[in-house]
Amino acid sequence: MAKVRHSRLQAKKWSTVTLVLSVSIMLTVVLLMHLGLGIFSLPINNDDSSPNVLTSYRRMTFERGNGLGKRGEQWTEVLSWEPRASLYHNFLSKEECEYLIKLAKPHMAKSTVVDNETGRSKDSSVRTSSGTFLKRGQDKIIRDIEKRIADYSFIPVEHGEGLQILHYEVGQKYDAHFDYFNDEFNIKNGGQRMATMLMYLSDVEEGGETIFPAAKGNISAVPYWNELSECGKKGLAVKPNMGDALLFWSMKPDATVDPSSLHGACPVIRGSKWASPKWMHVEEYKI
Ligand SMILES: *[C@@H]1O[C@H](CO)[C@@H](O)[C@H](O)[C@H]1NC(C)=O
Ligand SMILES: *[C@@H]1O[C@H](CO)[C@@H](O)[C@H](O)[C@H]1NC(C)=O
Repeated sequence: MAKVRHSRLQAKKWSTVTLVLSVSIMLTVVLLMHLGLGIFSLPINNDDSSPNVLTSYRRMTFERGNGLGKRGEQWTEVLSWEPRASLYHNFLSKEECEYLIKLAKPHMAKSTVVDNETGRSKDSSVRTSSGTFLKRGQDKIIRDIEKRIADYSFIPVEHGEGLQILHYEVGQKYDAHFDYFNDEFNIKNGGQRMATMLMYLSDVEEGGETIFPAAKGNISAVPYWNELSECGKKGLAVKPNMGDALLFWSMKPDATVDPSSLHGACPVIRGSKWASPKWMHVEEYKI
């Protein structure tokens, strides 16, 4: 009798061990599947070269199959807190960039600036690019991109102006300026401009950097410092790469304008530059 009880106990012990083992194996498999699918990731140590200025982290994104073409690996770099600026790598696919350029090409006209006394557009030597506006929600591909901008910026699609498409040839530039307005005229529709998503539609061989001359922090800590043009070294610089998008804020979280958002486009030295800014307002912008 005692012997039987003993082996029963043994059997019970064994089944517990088997259960625990199989549960752990199952959990391991589930964990590996999640890691493989990118649902979550192990923390990546990124505290190597540049303290405070360039911290990057990985943003997990699913290819939901919306948008034209396939986007490369997506990751986010926080560039600066004064001004608030982040870079979204591979925000657009190559196909989306080419599509926007193709749409804009037949309509390019000399870019203008806003006259801060009258609020009207005027020709100016501080801005020598050419450009055109697309309509907000113009077609499905543009709607996909505008939805993505809203998702990444937390600003509703309805607060955005239509995409502007800009082209800079060798020597063309946009001197340092603010995206927020200094006149009453331009804030009638949508209120002040709050943030800008500047999408790079092409690579630029040399020059053409976006610079923030008033950014706080060590501007020479960027890993591509030695590749920058002379102009690019005059501020915190972003090198244009096809598909990347730079989000920066013209207003601080307390809704006052942020003078550290001063920015410019350096002259293109080699190659040509295509870019597309989306300006977003504090209120609905009527089109
Ligand atoms: C317009 O801009 C000029 C040059 O930046 C500046 O001197 C002037 O005060 C501005 N005017 C207004 C009304 O903001
Ligand atoms: C800025 O960063 C560069 C490159 O990391 C470094 O060599 C330099 O000492 C830094 N300057 C300051 C003032 O921290």
